[in-house]
Amino acid sequence: MIDVRGLTKTIRNGSRVVEILKGIDLTVPRGQFLAIMGASGSGKSTLLGLMAGLDAPTEGEVLIDGAEISRLPEDKLAQVRGRKIGFVFQSYQLIPTLTALENVLLPYELNANGDGKQRAITLLETVGLADRLHHYPIQLSGGEQQRVALARAFVLQPPIVMADEPTGNLDSKNGQHVLDLLTERQREAKTTLVMVTHDQQIADRADRRIVVKDGRIIADENNGQ
Ligand SMILES: Nc1ncnc2c1ncn2[C@@H]1O[C@H](COP(=O)(O)OP(=O)(O)OP(=O)(O)O)[C@@H](O)[C@H]1O
Ligand SMILES: [Mg+2]
Repeated sequence: MIDVRGLTKTIRNGSRVVEILKGIDLTVPRGQFLAIMGASGSGKSTLLGLMAGLDAPTEGEVLIDGAEISRLPEDKLAQVRGRKIGFVFQSYQLIPTLTALENVLLPYELNANGDGKQRAITLLETVGLADRLHHYPIQLSGGEQQRVALARAFVLQPPIVMADEPTGNLDSKNGQHVLDLLTERQREAKTTLVMVTHDQQIADRADRRIVVKDGRIIADENNGQ
C-alpha cells in the first residue's frame, strides 16, 4: 500500500550539496507496523516526510495505494494526506493560537462532517488530557503537546498513521499508554503504522524493523512472532 522507489533527497546548502537520502526502496503492506530506526541525522524524519508527501523527493517516487503522491499538485496532495494519512511530527507542530481541542479538530477543516468534536474530546481523554482541552500549546508541557499531536493524527481515523518519535518526550507510563493506543488501532482498524523510534522495546513490538544509516536502509527484519 505504500511503495517507495529509488527515493533520493539532496539539499543544496550554498555551495555544499548534502545527500540526505541516497536511494531508498521500501514496500509497506497494508496494516503493517513498521519501525524505522537509526542514529540521529541518518535521514529518518526526511524519509517519513517524503512518504507522507510533506516534502518532494529529488528523485524517485512514493505511491500510496498505487497513486504517485510524490509529484501531485498541492491541492490533490492535501486531499490524499487529509483522507489517508495521519502524521505526528517530531516537533508536534501545533498551532499556537488554537487550544488543544481546536488543534485536534484542525484536520476536519478539509474533511468536515458531523460528530468530530465528540471524537476529538474522546481522543484527548484517551491520551490523558481531559482537563487540558482548552489550554493553548504554550500552557502545555512537551509531553502534553506530543499527546495533542497524536490525538490530531487519529481524529479522522486515517488508514495510515506516520509518527516521528511519538513517545520521545513522554515518561514511561504515558509512553506505554500512547504506544498501546497506536498499536490497538493498528490491530483493530488494520491501520498501517510507520513509526520512527529510538526505542528498542517499541521496535520489538513492531511487525518489522528497518534501520537507516547515512541515507540508506542497512537492515530490514521481520519480527518473527
Ligand atoms: N533542510 C535541510 N538542509 C540541510 N540539511 C538538512 C535539512 N534537513 C535535514 N538535513 C540534514 O539531513 C540529515 C538527516 O536529517 P533527518 O531529520 O532526516 O534525521 P533523523 O534521522 O530524523 O535524525 P533525528 O533522529 O535526530 O531526528 C541531517 O544531517 C540533517 O542535518
Ligand atoms: Mg528525526
